[in-house]
Amino acid sequence: MRHPLQLTSDPEVLSAFRPPPSALLTDSFGRRHNNLRISVTDRCNLRCTYCMPEDVTFLERSELLTFEEIAQFVRVAASLGVNKVRLTGGEPLMRKGLHKLVQMLVPIPGITDIGLTTNGLLLAEQAAELFDAGLRRLNVSLDTLDPGRFRELSRRDGLDRVLAGLDAAKKVGFGPIKVNAVAIRGFAEHDVVPLARYCRENGFELRFIEYMPIGAELWERNKVFFAQEILDLIGRDVCSLNPTKSDPTAPAVDYEYSDGNGRVGVIASVSRPFCEQCNRLRLTADGKVRNCLFALNEADAKSLLRSGNSPDTALAEMIRRSVWEKWAGHDFNTAQFVKPNRTMHSIGG
Ligand code: 5AD
Ligand code: SF4
Repeated sequence: MRHPLQLTSDPEVLSAFRPPPSALLTDSFGRRHNNLRISVTDRCNLRCTYCMPEDVTFLERSELLTFEEIAQFVRVAASLGVNKVRLTGGEPLMRKGLHKLVQMLVPIPGITDIGLTTNGLLLAEQAAELFDAGLRRLNVSLDTLDPGRFRELSRRDGLDRVLAGLDAAKKVGFGPIKVNAVAIRGFAEHDVVPLARYCRENGFELRFIEYMPIGAELWERNKVFFAQEILDLIGRDVCSLNPTKSDPTAPAVDYEYSDGNGRVGVIASVSRPFCEQCNRLRLTADGKVRNCLFALNEADAKSLLRSGNSPDTALAEMIRRSVWEKWAGHDFNTAQFVKPNRTMHSIGG
């Protein structure tokens, strides 16, 4: 009998390690991938300490995928079963005419859900044209309602503009509007309750994200303000919470206020990793496919898109292979963790 570690050229054995022939994006752990996050620019008008360094060299314009290239990638991904797309950055609204990209993505067969994650600074100006282009789902990142702490965390001013952006988005008719807050110990304690009250009053769904080691500064586990602590604080000082039905493939676990007046979600990336349910892949602004936020390898879709040939078949193969090769999950709770050499702003949150 063959020793199990002996190398083999047996096609039947080898085929077990190749992507299955199915057109759908399944990885070697059986996880179906239907969710694509697209970073449209690495530029940002804030400098959140947990995300990016202050002095950063941005990509040249020519390195960014064009809207046509992004749409072509999405068409291929949709043919492989991707139905959800989220536009991110850097700050996606810094990409000129972003609503035109939305217009191009809306009619792609198979795409049923398009969302945008923004810091909100440019939202008041662009809310109407984004809505008219067909965008409905909006996540606005906002960590604090205190102007001083906003400046401390994001190294810029702009809280008023974010609040104006949220107000404009609500008036234009966006829904659901979610507010994402990164929870860092030493900061979030002061912000949890005011944010929860503000979101309840305005009909926004608040979601706290545990602080992850993907920014420029030194991450330490003791800087993570844990999801359970946040829920306890809200339950005590705002209103008691009951667990509610959450999408099992989504990272957020959702709770409802017991008085029926709103919902809160927590993304417990550190205390309760959700890699087992992961259904996401990512396209960076410079056209690299990443199968994990923390991936150390990328596949170069831009070269294929710019190769001059009709790249759809090769692109499909690249996407399937990238998903197939995905690991079980990040290991930032262990000593083996290796931080990727990109920070969050250049991957897309
Ligand atoms: N940990 C958790 N969330 C982060 N984000 C950026 N950096 C981090 C980090 N280190 C979030 C942003 C935004 C989304 C795109 O990613 O706050 O909501
Ligand atoms: Fe900009 Fe978002 Fe990073 Fe803050 S977290 S610096 S808003 S990309």
